[in-house]
Amino acid sequence: MDEIALLGAGGHAKVCIDVANAVGATVSRINAPDASSLPAMEGAEIFQGPDEPFIDATPPSALFFIAVGNLALRRKIAAMIETRNRSCATLVAPSAVQSLGSEIGEGVLVAPGAIINVNAQIHAHAVINTGAVVEHDSFIGEGAFVGPGAVLCGGARIEEWAMIGANATLMPGVAIGAGARIGAGALVTKDVPAAATVFGAPARVVENDD
Ligand SMILES: CC(C)(COP(=O)(O)OP(=O)(O)OC[C@H]1O[C@@H](n2cnc3c(N)ncnc32)[C@H](O)[C@@H]1OP(=O)(O)O)[C@@H](O)C(=O)NCCC(=O)NCCS
Repeated sequence: MDEIALLGAGGHAKVCIDVANAVGATVSRINAPDASSLPAMEGAEIFQGPDEPFIDATPPSALFFIAVGNLALRRKIAAMIETRNRSCATLVAPSAVQSLGSEIGEGVLVAPGAIINVNAQIHAHAVINTGAVVEHDSFIGEGAFVGPGAVLCGGARIEEWAMIGANATLMPGVAIGAGARIGAGALVTKDVPAAATVFGAPARVVENDD
């Protein structure tokens, strides 16, 4: 099984470590500003410095895993790893469902109980959180974050580094622009522009960073 160098220490890191344990991967190094509340990782070396030196000092045999929930920080770390031509592990919880024809990219977390249905595509560094449903033919762009219990109906399209809040529902075929934020519990009936923030049922734009 893979040897993993993990970056992150918050609640999201706990979930990532739990999934790594469940699939039998070895987390050998963790860069964590505060590792005191992480689940016990026997034999894992803990570092508490900046990410770049941690990445540079990690043996080439190890794969990285970005276990940070914050999207801007995840993106920054992904770029650091990419510019060094290093690779990331992909973690799929044993209780998740991965259906026929679906694809899961490098560095993705599929958390416990999530369902990736037929022909869905999940691109690099995306997060499909606990119990989320990504229906058939959906597209999840690089680094996009799908919150716990969110339901993406068939053919939904989430562009890169967008965030779908917990329990949000996307109607069939809806497209979410890059970097958009969908509030927890939203019911998204129409396409959402890049960098917009929407919430409510039906969801309405409350902010647009463009
Ligand atoms: C939509 C969201 C991104 C907006 O964040 P924000 O810009 O920081 O918004 P604020 O928290 O300042 O809230 C602004 C107002 O919107 C309301 N609001 C925020 N999110 C809401 C939501 N999802 N549904 C309905 N109302 C919401 C707040 O109650 C507040 O109302 P008020 O001004 O009357 O007090 C955020 O609230 C959200 O829903 N994030 C999803 C979090 C999540 O599910 N993460 C998964 C972690 S595993």
